[in-house]
Amino acid sequence: MVELTVEIPTYNERDNLPILVNKLQNLGLDLEIVIIDDNSPDRTYEVADDLSHQYSNVKVIKRPAKMGLASAIADGLKVADGKYVAIMDADLQHPPETLIKMLNEAKSGNDIIIASRYISEGSSGKFSFFRKIVSKGATFLAHAILRETRNVKDPMSGYFIFRKDILDGKKIESKGYKVLLEVLVKGGPDRKVSEVPYVFGERYLGQSKLTMGENLKFIGLLLLLSEFRPLKFIVVGLTGILVNEGLLFALHTFTPLSLLYAGIISIESSILSNFLLNHLWTFKGRSVGTLFRGVSRYNLIALPGGIINLLTLLKLAEVTHYLIANIVGIMLAFAVNYIGSEMIVWGRRKGIQPDKRN
Ligand code: GDD
Ligand code: MN
Repeated sequence: MVELTVEIPTYNERDNLPILVNKLQNLGLDLEIVIIDDNSPDRTYEVADDLSHQYSNVKVIKRPAKMGLASAIADGLKVADGKYVAIMDADLQHPPETLIKMLNEAKSGNDIIIASRYISEGSSGKFSFFRKIVSKGATFLAHAILRETRNVKDPMSGYFIFRKDILDGKKIESKGYKVLLEVLVKGGPDRKVSEVPYVFGERYLGQSKLTMGENLKFIGLLLLLSEFRPLKFIVVGLTGILVNEGLLFALHTFTPLSLLYAGIISIESSILSNFLLNHLWTFKGRSVGTLFRGVSRYNLIALPGGIINLLTLLKLAEVTHYLIANIVGIMLAFAVNYIGSEMIVWGRRKGIQPDKRN
């Protein structure tokens, strides 16, 4: 068993690969290197084969066609002998020297060590403005929906180390680029995470394979890793509309209550039934503290949602049909309520340690 397996997925990286492998060999670490190439048109696998003849600690996996970064990482994991596994780009955007610091963090008891652009001394380098926005937006969404990532400043990083056994018995299901998210979520709640700063370098040669399609896969991954909570939340919301409308109809028809009081009772009843269903289903197994604390917080986040719904309705009704304006308002309110639920009502991070650097 070696200390560290470095996984390098490659697609058209023939000029970068030997430079990176030589640098890794010179770090003075007890490591092996696993190159996973997807039959690159530029024949990267030939270069990889040469390297494996030159160095006894280099393994090569050749796959028949481009099957994606995440599955390359999953396949590499199957042959990894290291106690720890590092994932890095082949294109020298991830400085190899950072591995030394990362491995030290691992040895001092951390389970997942992330090379981070978003802590002090780290930087995303010469990212285009657009890519910076996408990266920050994705980070916000991950923090909102996956609380296991909330104490991590750069959960989108493609450069990280983890102790291999934290994934024992678990499968990597990601399709896109964001395998770290999956490692954070599936690694279990008790894992210790640490971040080490790095500057995302400029691509040495060749070009990025990160496309819009990859960004869309990210949304799919968020749904999968969140066990489809956003969709469940929508379903519960729809039942709430039924409760609200049904009760309003009943109270208005069969009782002498004024519309105001019937309305208040109907709205509050739907808030309560939504809370209960979300507690038992959407956020099953997650703590709200005492039930009273949960219900009152849920009411609190329903309030700004309702106000946003109303304001949107009033504003948009000036330019479009009021029912369409209301639907837009409902969708905005949904987003606010959902994120409030994830972060505030069911957001308690029991067993997840606070960020050490703050
Ligand atoms: N085997 C294999 N199969 N390798 C692939 C594939 C694939 O389908 N797609 C990409 N790769 C390899 C590339 O050759 C490179 O070594 C590495 O995966 C990352 O691809 P890049 O194209 O260099 O990605 P990037 O630099 O735009 O994105 C990086 O930074 C992101 C942070 O914003 C990656 O590290 C991402 O994982 C990271 O999220
Ligand atoms: Mn890259």
